[in-house]
Amino acid sequence: MTTTRALVLALLGAVFAPVAAIALGTYWPFPRTPKAIAATPGLAVKIEQGRQYFAMSCAHCHADDATGDEGPNLHKLKISDAHIRLVVTNGIKGEMPTFAKKYDESQISSLAAFLRTLE
Ligand code: HEC
Repeated sequence: MTTTRALVLALLGAVFAPVAAIALGTYWPFPRTPKAIAATPGLAVKIEQGRQYFAMSCAHCHADDATGDEGPNLHKLKISDAHIRLVVTNGIKGEMPTFAKKYDESQISSLAAFLRTLE
């Protein structure tokens, strides 16, 4: 009886965990280690997209390698993923433009995922 219940729970977990991981993707901290990235469905693609958006829209202020120029260094950011998304969405008055019209939520989330890989 207990074994069956454990089995059912394990099966449910196996089915729902990846779905939940994807659904929560925009709200959960992004994994950073290469192993964790590889183990998260779709994350490598997302990071690559973020890298491209960064080159197009951010590199001229934050430098190609994101070590900072007019804008600050974005490696090892201390702020949360949610805060990164907020800054990119709203911009910083007088300092950094808003990207709310240029990128949708999913694209901004890709940018955050990319920034998280910058150690
Ligand atoms: C016009 C130049 C400019 C562009 C373009 C720009 N930024 Fe910025 N960004 C800044 C400046 C300047 C700051 C620092 C403002 C401050 O601290 O008052 C900043 C701050 C940030 C921060 C907060 C860093 C921290 O430690 O709190 C993040 C994250 C960030 N930018 C990401 C991006 C991303 C992603 C893009 C592209 C989508 C981008 N920026 C485009 C100039 C720019």
